[in-house]
Amino acid sequence: MRAHVVGWGKYVPDRVLTNDDLARMVDTSDEWIVTRTGIRQRRIAEEGETTATMAVQAARQALEGAGVSPGQVDVIIVATATPDYLFPSTACLVQDALGATRAAAFDLAAGCTGFVYALAVAVAMVEAGAVRTALVIGSETLSRITDWTDRNTCVLFGDGAGAVVLQGGPDDGGVLSAVLSADGSGADLLMLPAGGSRLPASHHTVSERLHFIKMQGRDVFRFAVRVIPTATREVLRRAGLSPDDITLLIPHQANGRIIESAMKDLKLPPEKVYNNLERYGNTSAASIPVALCEAVEEGRLGPGDIVICVGFGAGLTWGAVAIRWTRPRPVAAPTWRQFLRRLIYLWAALRSWLRRLWWWIRT
Ligand code: UT7
Repeated sequence: MRAHVVGWGKYVPDRVLTNDDLARMVDTSDEWIVTRTGIRQRRIAEEGETTATMAVQAARQALEGAGVSPGQVDVIIVATATPDYLFPSTACLVQDALGATRAAAFDLAAGCTGFVYALAVAVAMVEAGAVRTALVIGSETLSRITDWTDRNTCVLFGDGAGAVVLQGGPDDGGVLSAVLSADGSGADLLMLPAGGSRLPASHHTVSERLHFIKMQGRDVFRFAVRVIPTATREVLRRAGLSPDDITLLIPHQANGRIIESAMKDLKLPPEKVYNNLERYGNTSAASIPVALCEAVEEGRLGPGDIVICVGFGAGLTWGAVAIRWTRPRPVAAPTWRQFLRRLIYLWAALRSWLRRLWWWIRT
């Protein structure tokens, strides 16, 4: 039994926050943010939008694309660092909103590597025959835990959600291999210090701004540059492939310089590496499924192609999955110009056919 990606979907909030907007809030500039990170803008959830509501939107799109009804879903896994509540899980809220009444549901916390972890867990469940259809979601409302007075972090993050539907089947291809890793000794490099059982909410935690993301940016940068190529090579080795076989590498979208470094290390040309960082910033567990969804929509993946999703993040955690794409390329809806051109051709063909018919009737 192999696990195949049969549907994909994404949701990003409408509200755009540009670098210039941020430059009015903290001591930064568009130039600094673009050159150091590659980010130009990010999406910010409106009031009322949450990790669960965005996850539901992405999931609906993925299920519709797959032609799978909510009632067919056996398990829902939501990877997130920004759940609606500590409990119940965001996955349970999604299960209820979708009406996926048969599905088991749980959240998975692996920071920005969350989606890769969730996908690997779902694949193992499918391959073991425990479930047939899994809904795997990465969804984040990072804007709610971002310190908008800290220029070191507030320029990096954005909100959004991405989802895939996995289904077991006898065909070759699908998810070929996965590799998951962790090093808890780096836990304090990227964390949300308060709000858990170690440091529950108090006047002190609020006044010290401990409910916001704290990050040692340079250390995380060095870690990311090291683990992306390592995890990519390992997942390829487990699938019996080499970097030359990669059609598209989808790295966690955290920093353009991290992506460039991985590209150089793996000797991949830019067209083989997906990058939508400039539009969305770092959306943590949502970044890879949103990027995967856009890559498919752009026609960058077709049957037989090899796609590698590789993530890294809080924990520290890192991991990768290798997929042999088995779905057909999407047929793009015609643009207005193409539609008008087709209409003119059709009219010309009809006119010529009517002329011939008239000539035939007269003679
Ligand atoms: O999802 C996984 C988690 N996160 C990451 O992957 C993040 C990994 N790290 C990074 O992407 C980078 O380390 C950052 C983008 C966060 C920072 O870039 P950097 O090149 O490592 O800058 P830095 O922290 O070494 O800071 C350089 C300077 C500092 O000034 P001084 O001390 O040299 O005078 C900072 O105070 O840049 C200053 N700085 C800023 N200046 C303008 C830091 N943030 C900003 C800012 N605007 N937003």
